[in-house]
Amino acid sequence: MRKAKSLIIFCCLLVLGIVRLQYGQQASRGDPDKGWAASPALVRALSKRRPDINYDEEKVSKYTLPDPLVMLDGTKVKDAEAWRAKRRPEVLELFRTHIYGNAPGRPERLRFKVFDLDRNALGGQATRKQVTVLFTGEEEGVSMEILIYLPNASRKRAVPVFVALNFYGNHAIHPDPGIRLSKSWMRGGGKGVINNRATEGSRGARRSSFPVEEILARGYGLATIYYGDIDPDFHDGFKNGVHGAFDQPLEGERAPDAWGSIGGWAWGLSRAMDYFETDDDIDHKHIAVMGHSRLGKTALWAGAQDERLALVISNNSGCGGAALSRRRFGETVKRINTSFPHWFCDNFKKYNDHEDDLLVDQHMLIALIAPRPVYVASADRDLWADPRGEFLSAKHASPVYHLLGTKGLESERMPALDSPIQKGKIGYHIRSGGHALAEYDWQRYMDFADKHFGTDKSGTDTKAE
Ligand code: GCU
Repeated sequence: MRKAKSLIIFCCLLVLGIVRLQYGQQASRGDPDKGWAASPALVRALSKRRPDINYDEEKVSKYTLPDPLVMLDGTKVKDAEAWRAKRRPEVLELFRTHIYGNAPGRPERLRFKVFDLDRNALGGQATRKQVTVLFTGEEEGVSMEILIYLPNASRKRAVPVFVALNFYGNHAIHPDPGIRLSKSWMRGGGKGVINNRATEGSRGARRSSFPVEEILARGYGLATIYYGDIDPDFHDGFKNGVHGAFDQPLEGERAPDAWGSIGGWAWGLSRAMDYFETDDDIDHKHIAVMGHSRLGKTALWAGAQDERLALVISNNSGCGGAALSRRRFGETVKRINTSFPHWFCDNFKKYNDHEDDLLVDQHMLIALIAPRPVYVASADRDLWADPRGEFLSAKHASPVYHLLGTKGLESERMPALDSPIQKGKIGYHIRSGGHALAEYDWQRYMDFADKHFGTDKSGTDTKAE
């Protein structure tokens, strides 16, 4: 009898627990008919921790976004021709002058050296290549290493490739002992990074962000580059990395629109693209650039400038990436320019607390990618990156896609958690969990690439172009 009683009590507690759990989840998911909303408990906790930062949707002040389809002189952009010939170059120039800075072009003496080719890597699943890109053509000059895996099972020789910069060295994305250990300067805090240098202990440390085998199994190649090869991520007055090699300051003064680190990293992605064009194993017409966080900002800027990048993906890129600056939700322009004074050009600092003076906002960065496919992804707990601001940016880029005769982000409201929108040329999802590059994200990016590149599991074309 006593046993039966405790069983009943136990069952009641279990049901109560499940109901609470459900309720709690719903609270962070918001009303399913209204789409995602941030968890009120999370908003409260973050607001308490950072009273200087706004995490409350109710406190977002009214703002007016610049219209991507109106020229600075007030002329309306009425057709694709006017967008291409006039407005697109104007918008690109505004981003160069006021946000990311101007970068040099392809260096004349750029050279590639393939130093590793293994057609039987990862137990035969992949062909592995490693390439040094000598930016100045000189062995001792600044250079970057590209690690490339291509699926051996693909029926096609040239395969579509995802290219992504990484945070802790190529060797950190997979434990494959054939990957050269990075010798470059590295931020502390990474597993196996000692005195700002990688050690053997850091091999595969970032594996969870790069599901290499899954990418290969779906018929895609993966190319990755350590971002610190291009420009070490600390403020040294632009002496090291590509700035040191290519800047020509007038009487020692850098111009207020000279490229910052994001400009440098994006430039590195274009140099990787230069290499892909020379490699017959790579389908260089189907390159998807993907980046997480600061590297998501970089992927968008690279894709906006370099039209050879066929698909662009921003993972949790936030302020200075996909999120609208004018919302001042989570990280702000002032905050980012203060914490990371080397990321943008000096002119961007003029907009600290003056976001409304900007002649662009980040929806126009996405519009620069049109009509190419672009995917923006947020994470439920990553309020620092302003998920709603990222969604709205993607949505407000859509009129440009429509003008160019294609679909943009075809949704009026944010989707529920883990419910991707992939109907048009702009994809979007908000994943449960925090600021990260997760396998869920990769799987959605590959679904999207399948649609736009027409690739099935074997790497066979399924889409007529
Ligand atoms: C910081 C920064 C963000 C950036 C992120 C990252 O949080 O404030 O703007 O996206 O670092 O790159 O991890």
